[in-house]
Amino acid sequence: MSDQARQLRSKVSMKQTKTIAIVSGKGGVGKTNVAVNLAIALSLQQKRVLIVDLDIGMANVGVVLGESARRSLMDCVKERTPLSAAITEVSNQLHFIHGGSGFTELVSFSEDDMTFMMSEMRFFYEYDFVLLDLGAGANDHTFDFISSADEAWLIVTPEPTSIMDGYAFVKLANRHANDLPIAVLVNRAVNGEEATETFERLELVSTKFLEQSLRFIGFLPDDPVVTRAVKAQQPFYLFDRNSDVSWRLDRITTTLTGVPIQERNFLDRLVSRFKRRTSSTR
Ligand SMILES: Nc1ncnc2c1ncn2[C@@H]1O[C@H](COP(=O)(O)OP(=O)(O)OP(=O)(O)O)[C@@H](O)[C@H]1O
Ligand SMILES: [Mg+2]
Repeated sequence: MSDQARQLRSKVSMKQTKTIAIVSGKGGVGKTNVAVNLAIALSLQQKRVLIVDLDIGMANVGVVLGESARRSLMDCVKERTPLSAAITEVSNQLHFIHGGSGFTELVSFSEDDMTFMMSEMRFFYEYDFVLLDLGAGANDHTFDFISSADEAWLIVTPEPTSIMDGYAFVKLANRHANDLPIAVLVNRAVNGEEATETFERLELVSTKFLEQSLRFIGFLPDDPVVTRAVKAQQPFYLFDRNSDVSWRLDRITTTLTGVPIQERNFLDRLVSRFKRRTSSTR
């Protein structure tokens, strides 16, 4: 860990961290692109941001950032190496870390592994924002992480299948963690009207059948700049700051920095969920 990171640690207090789980029902709707570019935009607003890559898919955070990850969280836990050794410092303000294969399942974790990990994970609180990039389709294991976050950001596109799969996520969240606030970001919309309609369709069924309210975050347009940036292995926000999609992301980022922080914190919730699960499987 650099001197810079060490200084950060001494400066910050736990309550400041906001943890957002970026989720979707259907795969390939833009989670990783949202996570990475939002992280960059926040870091450029002088926020300290950690992206945690909990997806083991191909187009992961490292690829979109154009950086290769170092050790994984999983490696560090097994080797008893401080988790800070797994952090890649993209800039002073922006760091990322990846879970490693099988991390969210935690199946090979002993109680000692868990204790080590939980005490080490306290460095999460060095950041203003911790963004969890998850794979598509939540399960019991990923829900330990998702429901411990302050908020889940559900990414949907206007396609009917994406809305349906988004609803499936809301249903699952409602069952696993009905106190988890869910916010919806519509990606790849043609315009604001289409985005609003998409959100309203999802909100209608969620309130009607689940009594689950949803918050509308905003939308990102379908923009060829994203594909060009992905091909160039650059985040779109840096690739073309003046593009439509970057401008929309700016608006989302600005509203986010004003979002109040909740009192309960991420690790407390994660620990209690692990405990509940391990005691039910013994
Ligand atoms: N706003 C957008 N405009 C145009 N293309 C987009 C946009 N958002 C995403 N894409 C395209 O969709 C692809 C998938 O995006 P991304 O990898 O972020 O999805 P994901 O939800 O993380 O996928 P996975 O579920 O596989 O992890 C991108 O490579 C890009 O080509
Ligand atoms: Mg992804």
